[in-house]
Amino acid sequence: MENGKLDRGFTLWFTGLSGAGKTTIAEIVEKELRRRIGSVEVLDGDIVRTNLSKGLGFSREDRDTNVLRIGFVANILTRNGVGVIVSAISPFKEVRDQVRHQIGEDFVEIFVDAPVEVCAERDVKGLYKKAYSGEIPQFTGVSDPYEPPTAPELHIKTNQEEPRESAARVVALLEEKGYLE
Ligand code: PPS
Ligand code: MG
Repeated sequence: MENGKLDRGFTLWFTGLSGAGKTTIAEIVEKELRRRIGSVEVLDGDIVRTNLSKGLGFSREDRDTNVLRIGFVANILTRNGVGVIVSAISPFKEVRDQVRHQIGEDFVEIFVDAPVEVCAERDVKGLYKKAYSGEIPQFTGVSDPYEPPTAPELHIKTNQEEPRESAARVVALLEEKGYLE
């Protein structure tokens, strides 16, 4: 690394249920990475859906399109030495694996795991309440599938540790893999 520029980019891909803690952990990791490397970009599902994926809904087809778009951008950035942080539910294994294949060895999948009951109990955005009442249809983990990763690079159980500890484990993994000094 020279002038804070990475020799190799990477994509940290946080997948998990709504409210599992993807964005929270990603934000802590982002801060730490910005301190240590020059080029960091964040692609968060909630934000991407207001621009790049504006108009897409939550059918399987739309979710897959959304995830492939995010993967496309992440891949381009990764190839240019950027440290990319993605947080998207990305509930379907097949399309996550497609992105993994595109990005190759620089794809780092992080399963942000919490039981749906715990996410529903947290209900930070009040979405679970609406999902259980039927006001929001096709809600991941309630009325729509979530296929957990079978071989993620890191498995974080957010009901068993604090976001700071989880973020530290993500950063440690990047060090181990030689992306950070
Ligand atoms: S996906 O499945 O990967 O395309 O989803 P993503 O782009 O990450 O968007 C998830 C955010 O959208 C809100 N939301 C819903 N999530 C799941 N299912 C349904 N039906 C739904 N409707 C709205 C919610 O705020 C998600 O954000 P997170 O951060 O995961 O809670
Ligand atoms: Mg989020």
